Amino acid sequence: MSTNLPDPKEFVDPNQPPLIYEIEKSWEEVISKPPVWLSHKFPPLPIEAKYEFLGHKLISPIAIAAGPASGKIWTDFYFKMGYGMVIQKTRRTVPRLSNTQPNIAIVYLDKPVEEDGLGETLAASNDPRDFEKYKSMTNSFGNPSSDILTWAKELPDQRKIMQPGQILACSVTATTPDEAAQIVETASDLLVGATAAVLGGADVIEFNLACPNVTENPQEGEMFQNVKLVKYVLSEFKRRFPKIPVGIKFGVYNSKEQMKKVFAEAGENLNYVSGINALKMTVLTPDGSEILPGRKTSGVCGIADQIIALKHIRWAAQIRQEEGLKYQILGGGGIIEPSDADRYLSTGADMVQVATIALADPLLAYKYRLGHRLVT
Ligand SMILES: Cc1cc2nc3c(=O)[nH]c(=O)nc-3n(C[C@H](O)[C@H](O)[C@H](O)COP(=O)(O)O)c2cc1C
Repeated sequence: MSTNLPDPKEFVDPNQPPLIYEIEKSWEEVISKPPVWLSHKFPPLPIEAKYEFLGHKLISPIAIAAGPASGKIWTDFYFKMGYGMVIQKTRRTVPRLSNTQPNIAIVYLDKPVEEDGLGETLAASNDPRDFEKYKSMTNSFGNPSSDILTWAKELPDQRKIMQPGQILACSVTATTPDEAAQIVETASDLLVGATAAVLGGADVIEFNLACPNVTENPQEGEMFQNVKLVKYVLSEFKRRFPKIPVGIKFGVYNSKEQMKKVFAEAGENLNYVSGINALKMTVLTPDGSEILPGRKTSGVCGIADQIIALKHIRWAAQIRQEEGLKYQILGGGGIIEPSDADRYLSTGADMVQVATIALADPLLAYKYRLGHRLVT
């Protein structure tokens, strides 16, 4: 057990900007370059893998959620930061450009949204310095993706930097032909993407069924509600890849009953549930004009998500017990401090995930480790 680990401050340059993501730039440009991490310093990795998720022993119970890391440059960065699992940002089988930049804005909200507040309009700014005060942001990318051949070929390279106790997951979503897409069509597309990810070497597959920012076919953002689709796609996935863990990313369920229908019907083919995705809300400038060009709604994340996220984790844990199900829970949405991670774990999550804070404080996994070095 190491007790003389360096202070996190030693890894942060005095001129480090508030976000490692340059929010004024296009997503394509941002991911072609490394995160803005001026010190170029990384904390030492734990030697012991004392956490467990989906049958893997891991060095940290904190994962990078699907989002912050896309492509080898960014997944490498988070593996070097000591996360137990890094989820490659959602990929598609059909290439798609990102929504018009900016894709991120800082939301003027320093406390969680209540369920009955989801219809409210929030104000936001383009100044990254505001994040230090508010700890909430909004994001709107629309699940951009390179073509399937390009991303599938990159996955083996993304694995090279991984150390024992680290795993790579890949998130995939469906590109449906139109609003009338049948379940079999949607599932087939998800399975093509998942197959490419498995062959590329992903340890875990996550079906992103809940993107709040898809503009072409909005039903793609609500797939987590579709009992038949979830059941069918998971059983077809498991027929082909019985040993690869698979999960679904969910959004806001209107009731525990509704969540139960989906999770219970999926049965043993559902290895884990992942959530919560960003909350779909109206976000504008303080004077009421668009902050993200061309879209008035976008996904709100960070501290804003805490109440709704914790409620969903509690429901998922209760349903698992009540129905005798075996899925694990990857809980997130609003984790900002290491103590939040413990709160989510004690509410029922088996592992936690972070997106927003990973863009501001990538040392979170290390800080969590420091807080636990004498306890565990
Ligand atoms: C920059 C950014 C990009 C994201 N992209 C994706 C994505 O591609 N797929 C996905 O399932 N969720 C995506 N999300 C949502 C996160 O995975 C997460 O569910 C949500 O932001 C709540 O967690 P947080 O409060 O820790 O950010 C993204 C979030 C952020 C901040």
